[in-house]
Amino acid sequence: MKNIFLLLICGTICHSLAAQQTIELTVDARKTGATIQPDMYGIFFEDINFGADGGLYAELVKNRSFDFTNTPLMGWSAYGRVEIRNDGGPFDRNPHYVRLISEWALLTGTGLINEGFAGGMGIRKEENYRFTVYARSVDGVSHRLRAELIDSRNNPAGYVELEVTGKEWKKYHGVITGKTTDAHCRLNVKLLTPGITDLEHISLFPIKTWKDRENGMRPDIAQALADLKPGVMRFPGGCIVEGNNLATRYQWKNSVGAVENRPVNENRWNYEFKHKFFPDYFQSYGLGFFEFFQLAEDFGAEPLPVISCGFSCQFQKGREQIVPMDSLQPYIDDALDLIEFANGSATSKWGRIRAEMGHPEPFNMKYLAIGNEQWGPLYHIYLEAFMKQIRPKYPNIKIVGTSGPSASGEEFDRLWPQMKALKVDMVDEHYYMSPQWFLDNAKRYDNYDRKGTKVFAGEYAAHTKPEKKNSFESALAEAAFLTGVERNADVVHLATYAPLLAHVDAWQWNPDLIWFDNLRIVLSVNYFVQQLYSYNKGTHVLPLTRNGQVVAGEEQLYASAVADVLKKQIIVKIVNTAATDRNISIRIDTAAGKGVKPSAQMEATTLTGDLQQENTLEQPEAVRPQNYTLTVNGQTLTVQAKGQSFNVYRIPML
Ligand code: AHR
Repeated sequence: MKNIFLLLICGTICHSLAAQQTIELTVDARKTGATIQPDMYGIFFEDINFGADGGLYAELVKNRSFDFTNTPLMGWSAYGRVEIRNDGGPFDRNPHYVRLISEWALLTGTGLINEGFAGGMGIRKEENYRFTVYARSVDGVSHRLRAELIDSRNNPAGYVELEVTGKEWKKYHGVITGKTTDAHCRLNVKLLTPGITDLEHISLFPIKTWKDRENGMRPDIAQALADLKPGVMRFPGGCIVEGNNLATRYQWKNSVGAVENRPVNENRWNYEFKHKFFPDYFQSYGLGFFEFFQLAEDFGAEPLPVISCGFSCQFQKGREQIVPMDSLQPYIDDALDLIEFANGSATSKWGRIRAEMGHPEPFNMKYLAIGNEQWGPLYHIYLEAFMKQIRPKYPNIKIVGTSGPSASGEEFDRLWPQMKALKVDMVDEHYYMSPQWFLDNAKRYDNYDRKGTKVFAGEYAAHTKPEKKNSFESALAEAAFLTGVERNADVVHLATYAPLLAHVDAWQWNPDLIWFDNLRIVLSVNYFVQQLYSYNKGTHVLPLTRNGQVVAGEEQLYASAVADVLKKQIIVKIVNTAATDRNISIRIDTAAGKGVKPSAQMEATTLTGDLQQENTLEQPEAVRPQNYTLTVNGQTLTVQAKGQSFNVYRIPML
């Protein structure tokens, strides 16, 4: 008892002494260290959590082509006489369409109502929506068609009427102006005149999309991605690259060309988790490889596509499939053709398709990942087969291999040497671990081999317990870990948080970087950590030490420093995971006589909050970075890092 009492007194005194003590850090700015890749911090997009259809992709109609597997009317409620047909539609790869038969005697009329995604369509008052449909009159008589929005209280919320004429399939379009703002509208498409009309690919898009493109993206979500200034964009997955089985793997060739004829595919995440059952989760591929490349270009990010290596998702526990080696060639062709699609001339077979889609210039793709989280005795053999054909033809493409789904363990230890032996350019490491793991791993890369194969931290996020939340606790741990990534920028060339997007009413996996509903968006605290690293990445690593040692967890402090030779800045990042504020002095050692010295003022940013705090749709600004300026006296800067805070100091050098 006595001992505990003494310990408590000592703990309190030592604690307050620690709070008062000034911690001395030194940044050696006498020569710049390893180069930081300009594309180091990026984004990883996967269609999980309704991230594409129902999310970034602005289409409001679910199952617009009536081709959800075995359930062609999913998402629709039909009334009157509606038939599903698959003979003679306009799109061979999406063969189903609907036949509407109406008679005066039919009091209900005939039509069908689309429910939208995650409980409805987000509609805004006074905004315009482009309604399009492919239609033909079966009886040759002109027919009137009304497309009408219905709000969540069943009130009309705007409509347009179209005249369907002639027996040939034609595209019709009209504009509906929203009469109300409502996140849960539906779309009623009704045949107003007696007779028979066929309809296919019924679509509704906001006219206001990202960059005003017709087959466009939700502007608020796309803007949030652009605001990260991502250096690299990995897509389209994740597990959806592999599929539930080989037949449902992501086949990029199905995702290009006319949107109407991109065959719908089952989404890998539709019934992965029993408690998160989404039988209505399909991929329209409206956001396909062309759109991914275009978005990467918009964002100034290097595209990094991932393609199937002939393995379906290995988490399928006994149901996984591996294509026989002697049938692998079509998969390798997919890789070779993708490089041509992205980089080939507009007269090449696949380059022409890109050009016809509106981008004659190449996308200058530099990276290609083959497989996602693969493991087992065969992966390296399959990867080698790809590399044997890609390397001679495209020696400048950097190839990314995998190290399995875990950050360590038997498979990880087996895969790394295999990847090195194959001389892949980067190995994709994934870690979804506890905040404590992230703190404990701040030195993870300090002892990695500095030559040859580099690391791509392709998927990571701190997972809190018991609930996995986008809390400040997780963000702070990620910020601390990233000081170690930054210090080892010669080892880690790329890093992307995962997953990126999640619909609050239709998610399968959390935490996620950005959350949204049908009208709103919220940036998680973790988003701001990513943004602060992206905006303050610098160009070269600078050694930062305390008593000659790296600062990676001792006394709950994590720190790193970079120089930005273009902006003439030194940028210091400090993460204080202790509950108390810390007084810190940062001495900048510059070369004697060179006349380089810190300017009298610096800009700083601090992200701090309670560990449990999260940004939510209701409280989107619970934790936000705060910017301020600080005075600098000579070579040594004195700062106070608040308890539980991530701080970035940008020091202009004169
Ligand atoms: O990011 C979610 C999933 O986690 C990815 O699809 C997969 O690669 C990993 O297992």
